[in-house]
Formats: sequence, C-alpha cells, structure tokens
Amino acid sequence: MAMADVRSWLQSLMREAFGILAFVYIWIALMVWQLYIIVYTKLSTWFPRTSALISSSVRWAHSLISGGNTKTHVLITMPFSPFCETVRWAFDMAGEPYDERSVGPIFHYFVSLFQTLGSNRAVPIMITHPDHRVLPTSHACLRFLGDLNNERFGEDWVFPSRDAEEFEMNLSADDSYGQAVMRCVYHYFFTAKEDDGKKQLLQVCKKGISKWQSVLLPFLWPGYELIIKLSLKVDDQVTFKANIEQVDKTWDKVNQLLSDGRKYILGTRQASGADIAFAALSYPLILPTEMDGGLFSFSKDPLPPRYRKEVERRRKSAAGRFVLRLFKEERHITFQT
Ligand SMILES: *[C@@H]1O[C@H](CO)[C@@H](O)[C@H](O)[C@H]1NC(C)=O
Repeated sequence: MAMADVRSWLQSLMREAFGILAFVYIWIALMVWQLYIIVYTKLSTWFPRTSALISSSVRWAHSLISGGNTKTHVLITMPFSPFCETVRWAFDMAGEPYDERSVGPIFHYFVSLFQTLGSNRAVPIMITHPDHRVLPTSHACLRFLGDLNNERFGEDWVFPSRDAEEFEMNLSADDSYGQAVMRCVYHYFFTAKEDDGKKQLLQVCKKGISKWQSVLLPFLWPGYELIIKLSLKVDDQVTFKANIEQVDKTWDKVNQLLSDGRKYILGTRQASGADIAFAALSYPLILPTEMDGGLFSFSKDPLPPRYRKEVERRRKSAAGRFVLRLFKEERHITFQT
C-alpha cells in the first residue's frame, strides 16, 4: 500500500471513529436532558412552592438558550428548514410580528425538548406572546395564526376551509411530503462523490446561527451525519426511490389541480396556508432565488449534478412554476386585513 493510501485510510478510520463518538455523546446528552425535563416536570407538580424557584432557574436557562424575553411571539427555527419557512411566510403575510431565534442542528434537539417538556425534538417552535403558549409544530403555528385572524376579522385566509387545513396537514405531518423532500435532498448530498456534499451541508447548517454554535457544530457534525444516515437511510437507493414517489404523489396532485388555470391550489381568492405550505416545503427541490440564503443558490452554488437535474426538471412543471411564481410575487406581500 502506498503512503498516500495509508494516510487516507487512516483519515477515514478516524472520521468514522469520531462520528461514532460524537453520536454517542449526543445521545447521552439528550438522555440526560430528557431526564432533567421529566424530573423538573414532576417536581413542579409535587412541590408547587419550590417549583417557583426551579422555574426561575429554568427561565434563566431559557434566556441563555434563546436570548431573553421579548414583547412578541418568539419563533425558534433552523434557518434553512422548509417547515420554518412556512411559518415565517404566513406570519409575514399576516403582518403579525415575531422574533426569530435560530438554532443549529443538534442544538435544536435540546431547545425543542426543553420548550415542549420532552414531547418534541423538531423545529419550528413558537412561544406565543403574551400567554407563553408553546406551539410545537408548523401546523400548530398556522392554526394559531388562523384563530387570531378569526378573532380579529371574523374570517381567516390561512385556513379558509376545512380542505385548506387538511391539505396543509397532509404536507407537514410527521413522515409526510415535507420530510420526504428533505430526505431526497440529503440523499443527493450524502451520495455525492468524496465528502464534498456533506461538507456543503455543514456550511449550510452554520449559516445564521450564533457564533458559539457555529464554532461547536463542526465537532459534533460527524455524529449528526450518522444520525441522518441511520434514521433517514439517506444513502439507500430503495429508500430514495420511495421518497421520490412520495414527493411525486403530492406533485401530481398539485399539477392536476393547477391544470384548469386556477391561481391558487385550492381555487381560493388569495393564497392560503395550503399554497404557502406547498411552496415553502417544496423550495429545496425548486431553489427559488428568494431562498438563496436558505439551503443553496441554484445559480451560484456548485450542486451535485443529479440534484441540479432534478431541480431543473421540477422547475419546468406546473407545480414548479407555481412555486417560483408564489415566491417571486407573494413572498414579500403583507395582506391588508
Ligand atoms: C389528505 O390525505 C388523505 C389521505 O391520503 C386524503 O384522503 C385527503 O383527500 C387529503 N386531503 C386533502 C385536502 O388533500
């Protein structure tokens, strides 16, 4: 074996070992964190008086994690997440102010588990103002906005019908369209030649998060790669095919609905939560320029060739053109309500 071969073999071995170590470390930390949350929840029901003391310490910890109290809703996001973009878009459109706090991957587990008292590990999460309710999913956030609209104006454009809400829920529920889209994107990067794709993903995840997180993230990254690989099976061809099929099912349905020339997916007068959710959750496969700051820029970033081809193909379909149009014409609009 040549010297260079030995070195690259050693490097890849170190990388694997480091990945497993980081993986184990992340899971132990998560378990300890979950245990802490359970103990905290129990203590506050058993000893309501001492719980005041505990909750003030927790509030302090919370302000460390998410940056102190504010006078608006707080939206906790991973900047590039399509689910987070759905909520941002709907709230921007409603002109409903919120304060966005971004966390990086891995860190989001801890923030999310903490805020939802152990019931959820994903973002987005919204903490409402002034009543500090924790909304644990993008659907819950849209529902909250819909209720606000109804309360204030006696009508709601987010979910103007039961169909609109169901359509959005079908896209954003666990293991549905939105996640299938992300699993396809991960597949392209995890199967790109060498480790370039994974390095590119790390760069994306470092965008827009706090300094200390972006400094720590590269050390935890190999563990996160392993989590994605094991839990989403992103380098497996059969799983990839199933994911594409799941995406195409929704895609075909939207193509078909739009084929009668309607402006919005469910034929509503203005954009609804269904349109926003479809456009936002589809953005990783369309890469509209308005989202250049999210995952990747279609025009500026080097992309794995198979990924670029997929985006090019989807951009040409009716559903793809719809996503491009909605981002271009409506992403910046605030409804006069
Ligand atoms: C949501 O999904 C269910 C199950 O696939 C389907 O029957 C229903 O028609 C969908 N709803 C909408 C509004 O698309």
